[in-house]
Amino acid sequence: RTVYVNGEYLPETEAKVSIFDRGFLMADAVYEVTSVLDGKLIDFHGHAVRLARSLTELDMQQPCSESELLEIHRELVKRNNIEEGLVYLQVTRGSDGDRDFVFPPEDVKPTLVLFTQNKPGLADNPAAKKGAKIISIEDIRWGRRDIKTTQLLYPSMGKMMAKAAGCDDAWMVEDGYVTEGTSNNAYFVKNGKIVTRPLSNEILHGITRKAVLRLAAEAQMEIEERLFTIDEAKEADEAFTTSASAFVMPVVEIDGVKLGDGTPGPIAKRLREIYLEESR
Ligand code: PDD
Repeated sequence: RTVYVNGEYLPETEAKVSIFDRGFLMADAVYEVTSVLDGKLIDFHGHAVRLARSLTELDMQQPCSESELLEIHRELVKRNNIEEGLVYLQVTRGSDGDRDFVFPPEDVKPTLVLFTQNKPGLADNPAAKKGAKIISIEDIRWGRRDIKTTQLLYPSMGKMMAKAAGCDDAWMVEDGYVTEGTSNNAYFVKNGKIVTRPLSNEILHGITRKAVLRLAAEAQMEIEERLFTIDEAKEADEAFTTSASAFVMPVVEIDGVKLGDGTPGPIAKRLREIYLEESR
C-alpha cells in the first residue's frame, strides 16, 4: 500500500510517526472514514466538515484545506487502485518530543496520516443479506461522542463482547436509552415508523445517518427522532444501523430476541438499496 504521512506518499513500511506523538500516547487524535464505491469517494464534503468541527472542538489546528484533503484522498484511491473500500484519515496534535499533559506550543504541527483499505464486495456484502445480531452493553464512554476521537478501546471491547456471545456488534445503553452502536448509528422500525436518537453530544453525528434520513424522508417514510430503550427496539418490527463502512446494515436480533421473522426487514433493505443507488 501507498500511504500518506505529513505531506509525503510512501510505501506503508516506510511511514513513520514519533513514539511521542500525542495520538499514540494520549489518544489526542481525531479521524474520519470515507467509503469508496466504483473508485469514487462517498460524501467527502460531509466528512471534511465533520473533521473540521472535531478539530475545532479540541482546539487542534486544521492540517490543510478541504481541497488539499480531497486531493490526497483521490491520489491514494488512484495509487492503490481502490474500486471499493475505505479511506482512513487521522489527525493528531503531534508532539514536541516528550510526554506532557499540557498541549504542545502552537508551532508544533499536527500529524496527518491517511491510508486506504481495499474491500472488494463492500456494497454487495453478504453480511447485509443475513443481517446483524446485536447485544446491548452499558455505554461507559466519555461525554463528547460527537467528536470523532480515536478513543476506541471501549467500542472495541464491546465488539469483542458481541463476538464472545456469538453476535456481530453491540448497541450501547446509557440511563436506559440506546445511544449508538460501537461504530454506527442505531435505528428501529415499528409500524412503518423509523425511530432514532436525536443528535447531541451523546452520539456521533453520522454522515450516513444524515444521508439516510434525507432519503427516507424523500421516500415518504415516517421518521421520529427521540430517545428509545433497548426493550422498545426488541419489540420492533425491524432494526438497522448506518455507517460509512457498512452503509445500511439490517439488525435481525437483539439480546437473543428475534425481530420480526429474524431476517432483514423491508425498510432496512429498501434504505440500503436507495442509499447505494444514490451514492454511486
Ligand atoms: N465509525 N457512531 C460511531 C460511534 C461511529 O464510530 C461511527 C462511524 C458512526 C457512523 O458515522 P458515519 O455514518 O459518519 O460513518 C456512528 C467509523 C465508520 C469507524 O469507526 O470505522
